Amino acid sequence: MARKVILTGDRPTGKLHIGHYVGSLKNRVELQNSGEYDTYIMIADMQALTDNARDPEKIRNSLLQVAMDYLAVGIDPEKSTILVQSQIPALSELTEHYSNLVTVSRLERNPTVKSEIRQKEFGKSVPVGFFTYPISQAADITAFKADTVPVGDDQEPMLEQTREIVRSFNSIYKQDILVEPQGYFPPKGMGRIPGLDGNAKMSKSLGNAIYISDDADTVKQKIMSMYTDPNHIHIEDPGQVEGNVVFTYLDIFDEDKKKVQELKDQYSHGGLGDVKIKLYLNEVLQGVLEPIRQRRSVYEQDPAAVYDILKKGSEKANIVANQTLQEVRDAIGINYFN
Ligand code: TRP
Repeated sequence: MARKVILTGDRPTGKLHIGHYVGSLKNRVELQNSGEYDTYIMIADMQALTDNARDPEKIRNSLLQVAMDYLAVGIDPEKSTILVQSQIPALSELTEHYSNLVTVSRLERNPTVKSEIRQKEFGKSVPVGFFTYPISQAADITAFKADTVPVGDDQEPMLEQTREIVRSFNSIYKQDILVEPQGYFPPKGMGRIPGLDGNAKMSKSLGNAIYISDDADTVKQKIMSMYTDPNHIHIEDPGQVEGNVVFTYLDIFDEDKKKVQELKDQYSHGGLGDVKIKLYLNEVLQGVLEPIRQRRSVYEQDPAAVYDILKKGSEKANIVANQTLQEVRDAIGINYFN
């Protein structure tokens, strides 16, 4: 049986935060270490440029930051191929071939793209490249014949679009070249971590994130500013656990579930102060982030080594993607000279 293949990636538009860590990075490291997959992890700078064409410097800087975040959380270049999307020309040609199989109205129905268009306030000025990025993402996935795509659930529409393209392609050109991917989603409730302010989403633009690269003092300061229960004024007052970000984080990061339950009980009866639970969360989270920070600092001192990892990964990825492109050209019949 052929080996299973993973392809996943991120847009380099900033440093990664602990929401990325619990929502996907942690998962990827586990999959990588299972040894059951060929794993490709893509820094999707082309996709990032679809709505940042006027600020390429941001993408360029973020590329290195994201690569260091990957290496820091334990993505291992010996086990996973880390590649840079813009350095794989075959992806652009695949995108062009697939564009002919997708209608404008189909793209207009993509719920994730729709909500991004609203959120980014494009109005009538949606860049064509942004509008069509689901097609380019189908190229990313199929170029490596990935069957498994570990992502957050907002990416399901991209996977559905990819499967449709694969089915169209394979049926029109009567070949079984492309592979239909399945999403691999984090267990329900584990994928999302709220922002420091209690907003359901942690994001750079909302300014409510803890970054993987934040130093210990910054993390502590952010935890001390966290949203708890606005009605919990005196220590002896009963406090609300649901929707209290400190407890949500403890549920995610603290292995000691019994201790968390005790704290919750005490908090909801009254007699446990916010400062105390925040200091406890700080201890727990620093324990998770400290080894990551240490690994990151080694790479921060040697960006050339990081670029070298990306270069080698991209070289390897080019071989695979070029092979798929050749098969696609052959299937369409645009191989006149061989
Ligand atoms: N769209 C993804 C995101 O915004 C990034 C991405 C680009 C991706 N290409 C991919 C994810 C291929 C999985 C597979 O996070």
